[in-house]
Amino acid sequence: KVWADAREGSKHVAQTIALSIRQRQQEGEHIVLGLATGSSPIQVYQELVRMHKEEGLSFKNVITFNLDEYYPMKPDAQQSYVRFMREYLFDHIDIKKENIHIPDGTLPIEQVEEYCRQYDKKIEILGGIDIQLLGIGRTGHIGFNEPGSWDTSDTRLVRLDALTRRDALKDFPSEEDVPYRAMTMGIRSILKAKAIHLLAWGQHKAEVVKRAVEDEITPSIPSSFLQKHPNTRFHVDTGAAECL
Ligand code: GLP
Repeated sequence: KVWADAREGSKHVAQTIALSIRQRQQEGEHIVLGLATGSSPIQVYQELVRMHKEEGLSFKNVITFNLDEYYPMKPDAQQSYVRFMREYLFDHIDIKKENIHIPDGTLPIEQVEEYCRQYDKKIEILGGIDIQLLGIGRTGHIGFNEPGSWDTSDTRLVRLDALTRRDALKDFPSEEDVPYRAMTMGIRSILKAKAIHLLAWGQHKAEVVKRAVEDEITPSIPSSFLQKHPNTRFHVDTGAAECL
């Protein structure tokens, strides 16, 4: 769906999420949200915070799983996704602490594999992700599933693409500070979500959006696997829609 701007699209996505949260509340059930970081979802989070403050939208029945985290990464570091999520969402809403899940970038390497397995398992036990938010990187990645990632990939430790590291540089003091690795939900983990909303704003995303949506399905553009998912929506602004 092409929106006039990021604000309009983000508002719509936030409303969709809020509606599902409220429906589940009425049924006395929980809802599982898959969350993304980066600049793309920020306005969705701002809108959700506004609805919490002004319209009494409660997050008490909400369980969240974040897509990814740098590895290694301390939660209180400036660039950590834990910090990002607190700043833009969790510190401003009434979500229960125990319902928040973000891959743990502090684990010793020998524990990572089992931890990732448990991450996917926990999602499954809770009934799967109801709504998954995604951004898209210029390499075509979703989460940190870089080119070469197949749709059989589960949550795991990955190596970051050079372009992704360059794009991340804006958040780090210098190149050597950008981690070489990250933990990410796999393509398979993402595709299990019941509904997926991918957000892409700005002309710099136009090329990769076109390749993800219109070109063949290939691990060279991991986001292209979303074409196989029956309930995925791409929300773009006019800039990001330019090559479609
Ligand atoms: C990072 C995140 C991705 C995100 C991407 C795009 O690589 N791990 O999940 O989609 O950045 O970021 P932005 O939304 O700032 O363009």
